[in-house]
Amino acid sequence: MKLIATTVFTLAAAAFTPTAMSADLKAGQATWERLNCASCHGAEGNKAIAESYPILAGQHADYLKHALTAYQRGARGLPATANVRNNAIMSSFAMQMSKQDIQNVSAWLATQPSPLAVRK
Ligand code: HEC
Repeated sequence: MKLIATTVFTLAAAAFTPTAMSADLKAGQATWERLNCASCHGAEGNKAIAESYPILAGQHADYLKHALTAYQRGARGLPATANVRNNAIMSSFAMQMSKQDIQNVSAWLATQPSPLAVRK
């Protein structure tokens, strides 16, 4: 029993260990510019062109990465779940990004000045 518990713990720890991939902020900004994300989300992702378009600046990088990966899954025709987002616009943009692009652009957006705040 102890052996099983240890094995499960080890496997779980391995699954949640962050990958060696680290973010390159300059490359993230370059991806943002190359794909013209600003045309909907605003120059640094902080002033979207419509109320229904989310503000990205200052959002947690992990959250943005999760969202972009979920749009990629949606583009593969999977039904919507907590990990799959079906949105035609964003899926087409997400499909133009590699894993590394997503990592970089998410990290860069998280560093941008933002109107997002937690009420105190
Ligand atoms: C044509 C307009 C348009 C462009 C260009 C665009 N987006 Fe979006 N984006 C949207 C809309 C609309 C949504 C909300 C979609 C939904 O309801 O899931 C969205 C959602 C997102 C989200 C999820 C945010 C959240 O809070 O859940 C991320 C991350 C994102 N976009 C990143 C990007 C990036 C990075 C690019 C450039 C590669 C980009 N977008 C280009 C319109 C756009």
